[in-house]
Amino acid sequence: MPLHFLTGAELSADQLTSLLDRALSLKSAPASSRALEGRSVALWFEKPSTRTRVSFEAGVFELGGHPLVLRTDDMQLTRGERIRDTALVLSRHVAAIGLRTGDESQLVELAEHATVPVVNMLSLRHHPCQALADLMTLREAFGSLEGRVLAYVGDGNNVARSLAIVGTLAGMEVRVAAPSGFQLAEPHGAVLTDDPAEAAAGADALYPGVGVSMGGDEPTAAARREALAAYRLDDALLDRAAPAAIALHCLPAHPGEEITEAVLYGARQRIW
Ligand code: CP
Repeated sequence: MPLHFLTGAELSADQLTSLLDRALSLKSAPASSRALEGRSVALWFEKPSTRTRVSFEAGVFELGGHPLVLRTDDMQLTRGERIRDTALVLSRHVAAIGLRTGDESQLVELAEHATVPVVNMLSLRHHPCQALADLMTLREAFGSLEGRVLAYVGDGNNVARSLAIVGTLAGMEVRVAAPSGFQLAEPHGAVLTDDPAEAAAGADALYPGVGVSMGGDEPTAAARREALAAYRLDDALLDRAAPAAIALHCLPAHPGEEITEAVLYGARQRIW
């Protein structure tokens, strides 16, 4: 059974630390490893992406490999081919498969049948690679993660869930502030509240949740924006955090909605 990366919960705390060490080392010396020399990696996107596509495609290239970007629209899946058969065929040609999908069952089915590792590049419930990238930023900002406090304010979506899973695994205190109806169904180790000020108090990092996610939220966008208006990350909320606190964001941002323009481009952001 290949080692898949679907939620982040597959990792032990030691594996997570090693992974972040390795990522930080590669970031400081790009193209210093040829771990994927002569291999291809399938990057299958069913949903739009800017950052994930570019970072994975550039990352595979920098490791000496060939990134094979696939769009569902161009595949025989649109003519009824099974996920299972797609998994079997891709596994014969590539070293790993990344998938971005809005359908969690598609990810699970792919992982069940692929004979190479499957990496979740965003699904309806999880965005573990986003959370890993955020932990890298926190390591760069604070040196270590143990005992650090990350406060997420806004919709309890896939990013919130992944930050809860991976952040608590790293020994952090993760707080998620969301109104009723938008909170995580399970805490995944995080402290849940409906009060953004309580979550922000003394935190090392504040992270706003995007209220209208792609693929499903658009029909109720106006109601969602109204319900989440009090959860906007602005300078006043950031002032409640620790003096050296930083602002994070998964992007794409919607200035004036989940974050103010002042915070997004301000001195305390570590977003860009
Ligand atoms: N953060 C993130 O997943 O960005 P993209 O949707 O642009 O890949």
